[in-house]
Amino acid sequence: MSDESRPAPAAAARTAVVIPAAGRGVRLGPGAPKALRALGGTPMLIHAVRAMAASRAVSLVVVVAPPDGAAEVKSLLDAHALPDRTDFAVVPGGETRQESVRLGLEALPPGYDIVLVHDAARPLVPVDTVDGVIEAVRDGAVAVVPALPLADTVKQVEPAAVPGEPEPVVATPERARLRAVQTPQGFDRDTLVRAHETVTGDVTDDASMVERLGRTVVVVPGHEEAFKVTRPLDLVLAEAVLARRRLNDGF
Ligand code: C5P
Repeated sequence: MSDESRPAPAAAARTAVVIPAAGRGVRLGPGAPKALRALGGTPMLIHAVRAMAASRAVSLVVVVAPPDGAAEVKSLLDAHALPDRTDFAVVPGGETRQESVRLGLEALPPGYDIVLVHDAARPLVPVDTVDGVIEAVRDGAVAVVPALPLADTVKQVEPAAVPGEPEPVVATPERARLRAVQTPQGFDRDTLVRAHETVTGDVTDDASMVERLGRTVVVVPGHEEAFKVTRPLDLVLAEAVLARRRLNDGF
């Protein structure tokens, strides 16, 4: 087949990233919204934005800011060096993560067929993980999640009959078949938009909304450095990862 008669390669699909960064981060303790807290002297959000823009496939990053913090986030992005090949936009977020992602999706211009959703709270995800997710969507998956096997055995519990009493265990899922899911999660744009239009109720990630549409979600390898900064100890780990990177870059 000559080059001219080939259908446009799926690899030509343009990729945008939505970064929900509107959470307060209460589990991290008192202080600024989580995404604006510093890691190695740089706001966590800037690390997350750079991690996405590090992929040559990503041409737009939409940051969903705390509802009253869009101006502050805009000036943060202006104040930090970011790649020229990537466009950046900031929109105010909502009450829940789901609402924040929906507001980010609504801000996407036409022409982006692949959308990644990435938590600002996962600032250190390596570019190979980002590229792996994009590649799997380009290869035809409608929804892709990076994931890792679990170290811990997981128990399903029921609420205690009396608050404060021990919770009874009702099941132990087979650990070998469980995965801890990270971000960025990657989607065919139309599928993700439909999921956000039709699925209501409490969800903790975007892929589960696509599952509820009855579509197949696939897993690609995640990375231990893509962990979510949630509790104070995660900040210590994140600083250690950054220090190790600086050491490796320096030699
Ligand atoms: O609360 P959780 O750790 O699941 O938050 C995951 C991501 O969703 C964080 O990056 C947080 O800033 C974002 N989020 C949001 N809007 C909310 C709540 C959380 O953008 N209302």
